[in-house]
Amino acid sequence: VAKNVRVVVCGFGRVGRNFARLVEFKHRLVASRYSLTLDILGVAELNDSVLSTGPIPPSELVNYFEAHGNFLNYPRFGITGWEGIDIIREIKEADVLVETTPTDIQTGEPALSHIRAALSRGMHVVSANKGPFIRSYKILKSLADSKGVSLKFSAAAAAALPTLDVAQTCLAGAKIHTIEGILNGTSNFILSRMRTGDEDYEMALAEAQRLGIAESNPALDVEGYDTANKLALIANVAMEANILPEQINRVGIVNIVAGEVRQAAAEGKIMRLLGRAVVDKSNKVNACVAPQLLPMNHPLAGVDGSEKGITFTTDSMDRVTVAGGKSDPKGAAAAILKDILNIYRPS
Ligand SMILES: NC(=O)c1ccc[n+]([C@@H]2O[C@H](COP(=O)([O-])OP(=O)(O)OC[C@H]3O[C@@H](n4cnc5c(N)ncnc54)[C@H](OP(=O)(O)O)[C@@H]3O)[C@@H](O)[C@H]2O)c1
Repeated sequence: VAKNVRVVVCGFGRVGRNFARLVEFKHRLVASRYSLTLDILGVAELNDSVLSTGPIPPSELVNYFEAHGNFLNYPRFGITGWEGIDIIREIKEADVLVETTPTDIQTGEPALSHIRAALSRGMHVVSANKGPFIRSYKILKSLADSKGVSLKFSAAAAAALPTLDVAQTCLAGAKIHTIEGILNGTSNFILSRMRTGDEDYEMALAEAQRLGIAESNPALDVEGYDTANKLALIANVAMEANILPEQINRVGIVNIVAGEVRQAAAEGKIMRLLGRAVVDKSNKVNACVAPQLLPMNHPLAGVDGSEKGITFTTDSMDRVTVAGGKSDPKGAAAAILKDILNIYRPS
């Protein structure tokens, strides 16, 4: 008999809706392989939300929201004026909060309050949101531990590319002393096009925007902020570091010229925007983000286009690399589902 897991989703944007679609699409597999049924009991949006005591069909929620852009007149269980925090406080019983509201790197809000409230109520939390963990990971983790619940945020740390799971589970017992990551798909796409597509930076960026890989304002990606945010998140968990993104020395790819990239390629090197965190002799973690020329035999040299990759160098397991994984909202939704399934995986 499948166990019913009662889920509340906070933020029904691209990731939240893709997660709901995936719950429906994977329903049979989740029941047969994991003996679980994921029941969405509530969805919180900015002004109007939906809350029920029983499962609501995910496609009903998605279709309604996509047709109307809000839950204002949702026929059943709609609650005007409620947002994330209200649903979390008022729901009678739920097992998991899925947090997919917009990221605020400075304050972590509104997700930080949502996560705190859910953990305090004894709910597991699965988040796609980087903000709350950049500054408050340790506090949230100890709150989760004190309540005996799980706190997972794979989707925040490079979406479908496994990073935290590898560090925490696959490399258990090893000391990670270096992390190197191609953590931003947009920058990697642009550098790849500059190398092979005979394009300069502006043309490659325009192509990334045309394909929906880059935002209309690409600063977060091409100036290295996104890489620094993810690097801080991963290093703080995997190395028990205490890094804030603004402390990371950061250079983006905006000043790279195509000739440089192609000249390097002719010399057997490949230009990549790399985030690197290294534990020094006094156990301090030093981190930087900058374009680097990688030799062709570097494990990340083959990470091409909008893919990402991460290499952990350890004391007892040597060098371990993972690459690939979807980076779009579907990939983030799949990472959320993975986190939930792993919470309930029998130990
Ligand atoms: N998109 C990706 O590929 C991706 C990948 C990995 C991680 N992430 C992370 O996942 C999160 C969601 O991303 P997204 O692309 O889905 O963003 P999005 O499309 O902007 O969706 C966020 C939704 O949350 C709603 N919201 C804002 N404040 C709220 C509140 N207090 N209570 C309830 N809902 C609230 C927003 O409503 P309004 O629109 O009315 O503000 C919006 O509908 C972000 O933290 C992002 O960094 C995204």
